[in-house]
Amino acid sequence: MIIAIDGPAASGKGTLGKRIAQYFGLAHLDTGLLYRAVARDVLVRGAALEDEEVAVDCARNLDPGTLDDPKLREAGIGEAASIVARLPGVRAALLTFQREFARRPPGAVLDGRDIGTVVCPDATVKIYVTAEPEVRARRRHLERLSQGDNVSYEEVLALIRERDARDANRANAPMRPADDAILLDTTNLDIEAAFDAAVGLIKRKISQ
Ligand code: DC
Repeated sequence: MIIAIDGPAASGKGTLGKRIAQYFGLAHLDTGLLYRAVARDVLVRGAALEDEEVAVDCARNLDPGTLDDPKLREAGIGEAASIVARLPGVRAALLTFQREFARRPPGAVLDGRDIGTVVCPDATVKIYVTAEPEVRARRRHLERLSQGDNVSYEEVLALIRERDARDANRANAPMRPADDAILLDTTNLDIEAAFDAAVGLIKRKISQ
């Protein structure tokens, strides 16, 4: 069983992916971490994020053992990841790893932007998690304040809008719901309610 969870930044898809994987006894891959790790490695090499040759080399040589690096969760890395994610060569280099992960028995949950459309078009269940940008910005703002980062709500909202536009408007594997994805809007749901709703949708889909 493969469960694809896509959606924009701060929609809750990462937390949902992890909890859904635990609930169904499946492996979990947060594919955003792959792009974050490529961005980190490009920056460590002192190259520009748009430098496709360096970025592709970093993607090809990515060490999956470094995906738990706490640096990957830092705010600026999400923006940097969105920039390297536009490069077709980077996406191509990360595809095999994601597909092999998805094929592991007994199955896996992958979350990202293009799982239902490109990485696993044959996924058993596809969920596209959305929420209003203002609500996502509020969640991300609270998270950053709790990390001691004194950023303003307006700045977080502007970054969310900019990232949505970059991820949705790129030519290669843009963020969008697959035609057969189920939409889950978490604007008015806390994480518990969103989790319950997602489990309900998945159970309904697999019993069909
Ligand atoms: O989900 P995240 O915030 O960790 O993702 C960081 C960036 O990586 C995101 O803005 C776009 C890119 N990404 C992607 O292009 N495709 C994916 N499947 C996952 C992430």
